[in-house]
Amino acid sequence: MTRQKILITGASSGLGAGMARVFAAKGRDLALCARRTDRLEELKAELQERHPGITVAVAELDVNDHEQVPKVFAALRDELGGLDRVVVNAGIGKGYPLGGGKSWANKATIETNLIAALVQIETAVEMFKAGGEGHLVLISSVLGNVGLPGHKAAYCASKAALSSLGQSLRAEYASGPIKVTVIEPGYIESEMTAKSNTTMLMVDNETGVRALVAAIEKEKGRAVVPGWPWWPLVELLKVLPPRFTKRFA
Ligand SMILES: NC(=O)c1ccc[n+]([C@@H]2O[C@H](COP(=O)([O-])OP(=O)(O)OC[C@H]3O[C@@H](n4cnc5c(N)ncnc54)[C@H](OP(=O)(O)O)[C@@H]3O)[C@@H](O)[C@H]2O)c1
Repeated sequence: MTRQKILITGASSGLGAGMARVFAAKGRDLALCARRTDRLEELKAELQERHPGITVAVAELDVNDHEQVPKVFAALRDELGGLDRVVVNAGIGKGYPLGGGKSWANKATIETNLIAALVQIETAVEMFKAGGEGHLVLISSVLGNVGLPGHKAAYCASKAALSSLGQSLRAEYASGPIKVTVIEPGYIESEMTAKSNTTMLMVDNETGVRALVAAIEKEKGRAVVPGWPWWPLVELLKVLPPRFTKRFA
């Protein structure tokens, strides 16, 4: 089945913008949202110039504004004439060692990556139930499989909980009509990874987003992307004693 009408949150940079480019090249119609509308307008102009046959709708959305999420999703759905797939992608990587006096940074990450993701999930599932079907994609992380020390503690917790919500939904809708995919990206170039100084096992944005879209299109319940070397590494991370996981932080 071709999912023609796709909504992506956090589409103004990084993985979200990259996935939009790959889906646009496949001829899909896109609903793109984020806070930086100048970026979204630039992306829309770029995509429509390259792929004149597609529809691209953009909207300002701060996912932490919980009342706005259903309103913006509904407006974008109406503009595209329906939604077949929603990609819950908006996220941040702020954080500080627990007990270090900067709990605002850890709370911000949990708020955006988990609480706001929950609001997006509730909205998308309600829409899909009303429409009779749909594909919900949650952009989690390989780091949802492990608790890392230091700045990434809250981030790991947010992604572990997001993956868990996805697993619950996969059980809930095991026999349809909603498909749920949890994507666990490894390290892919983006604004977030540029800030985090992580270089280990990093793939460039284009390679990463192509692999992400290929995994999303398969509509499996869970995918680690890129599969190599991350599938075996994830299994290792789950069993490594905590003192050995530090170098992934
Ligand atoms: N890159 C990686 O290696 C990697 C690995 C695993 C998982 N991920 C996940 O992939 C997702 C995208 O991250 P990225 O690496 O592409 O980082 P990025 O380049 O920093 O992009 C983050 C996106 O999220 C949006 N966003 C952040 N806070 C938002 C808010 N309050 N409301 C609406 N949109 C918001 C940003 O848009 P605005 O600032 O314009 O609102 C931006 O478009 C995140 O969930 C991240 O955790 C990334």
